[in-house]
Amino acid sequence: MAKETQMAEFDVIIIGAGPGGYVSAIRCAQLGLKTAVVEARETLGGTCLNVGCIPSKALLHASHLLHETHENFEKMGLMGGKPKVDWTKMQGYKADVVGQNTKGIEFLFKKNKITWLKGWGSIPAPGQVKVGDEVHSAKNIVIATGSEPSSLPGVIVDEQTVVTSTGALALPKIPKSMVVIGAGVIGLELGSVYARLGTEVTVVEYLDGITPGMDGEVAKAFQRILAKQGLKFILGAAVQGVDAAKSGATVRYKLRKDDSEASLKADVVLVATGRRPYTSGLGLEALGVEIEPRGQIKTDGHFATNIKGIYAIGDAITGPMLAHKAEDEGMAVAEILAGKAGHVNYAVIPGVIYTTPEVSSVGQTEEQLKAEGHAYKVGKFPFMGNARAKAVFQGEGFVKMLADAATDRVLGCHIIGPGAGDLIHEVCVAMEFGASAQDIALTCHAHPTYSEAVREAALACGDGAIHV
Ligand code: NAI
Repeated sequence: MAKETQMAEFDVIIIGAGPGGYVSAIRCAQLGLKTAVVEARETLGGTCLNVGCIPSKALLHASHLLHETHENFEKMGLMGGKPKVDWTKMQGYKADVVGQNTKGIEFLFKKNKITWLKGWGSIPAPGQVKVGDEVHSAKNIVIATGSEPSSLPGVIVDEQTVVTSTGALALPKIPKSMVVIGAGVIGLELGSVYARLGTEVTVVEYLDGITPGMDGEVAKAFQRILAKQGLKFILGAAVQGVDAAKSGATVRYKLRKDDSEASLKADVVLVATGRRPYTSGLGLEALGVEIEPRGQIKTDGHFATNIKGIYAIGDAITGPMLAHKAEDEGMAVAEILAGKAGHVNYAVIPGVIYTTPEVSSVGQTEEQLKAEGHAYKVGKFPFMGNARAKAVFQGEGFVKMLADAATDRVLGCHIIGPGAGDLIHEVCVAMEFGASAQDIALTCHAHPTYSEAVREAALACGDGAIHV
């Protein structure tokens, strides 16, 4: 066995080149491990870079600017009419953004001497990875295969009329109408892209509110703001099925309050009802790798499966399905494989929704604290009191900070407003250091910046905010 291990072709083979896998590979290589990554896609970067986070951000940016020209340009004395959308060009811009990023990873692979094994990988036995007809050996294997959209009974996705996020990012034309099933992150980000491009968007959601798990007050404000932007919501509605026709499709749903049935027709239906771990074809069953009841690969606190030398990270294991969570796990497992102490602090993982305004959160919500019976205080500050936000028509939203009633330690922060996705990291760092709200409140923040709103919320946990 020792001899076999010494002769292994690689120290580590990582299956999947998404944010979890590629980041892990780079860290493995930096730590001196001979590293290979198996990836079947033509380009590196996984779902996030190719058909997820990155292309959606390009469309969110372009559609946001279009919305700005309609809403605010004339107010600023910028005359000259509203631009028309050239959808083909916008898709080209999106493809360029994706291309630059995926090529960037290819460059990083070369720089770090990481071998890209092109093809689908499977694990015929511990220490072996099969790619095409070749079997490669490795001391350790990391599964970073990510996730795929979960199916909904009665719904057949064709990626033309009935689409997942992948199809929604590459529609042949801007639809006149769209039904989004699921008011989660994907549904609201892509729904708001199309709403800004002129599509009539209706979101059908099973629960009585949007974005499950989000701080309730923020979720309510978010829904109000999105409704003002033109998104329609049908809440408490369980989708029963989708019937695709020659053109468009009909979504059938049942209202949970009285079991009444109704339907809605649209040019395009976006199914955004969650994702599930993507582990098929790896040979896990034959290996005896333990799987959680909901399909995730079971791992211990060090990302190890029950089979020696096989590890798993990212969307394929438990925890939030977020690119940055996968990246952190990728770095941590690399450190563990290199004999160091890799660690992820799951209590401080930010979440961001990249709509306009952005929504972000870290730590506990008010609902969670109440349920725990934790004595807490709330410091809130509206962006209407922030000069910078008002100057750019972004006075909607607020920062809500939650701190321990006795010790003032920051327990969570929830932001809806301009730059929320970046602002949250100041609070993440504070929480990593076990800071109090007063620590943030006593830190000088440049004026005029959006980040002053975070400080004001921290001040509101103590003697009070200044600009309200
Ligand atoms: P999600 O889990 O965030 O939301 C799905 C929604 O669909 C839920 O509100 C659920 O109640 C609803 N739903 C489920 N079945 C339904 C039915 N039959 N009828 C009506 N509504 C129904 O899932 P989503 O948005 O698809 O995202 C998948 C994953 O990808 C999430 O874990 C998300 O965090 C991640 N993601 C994160 C992004 C970010 O961080 N910005 C961007 C995109 C995805």
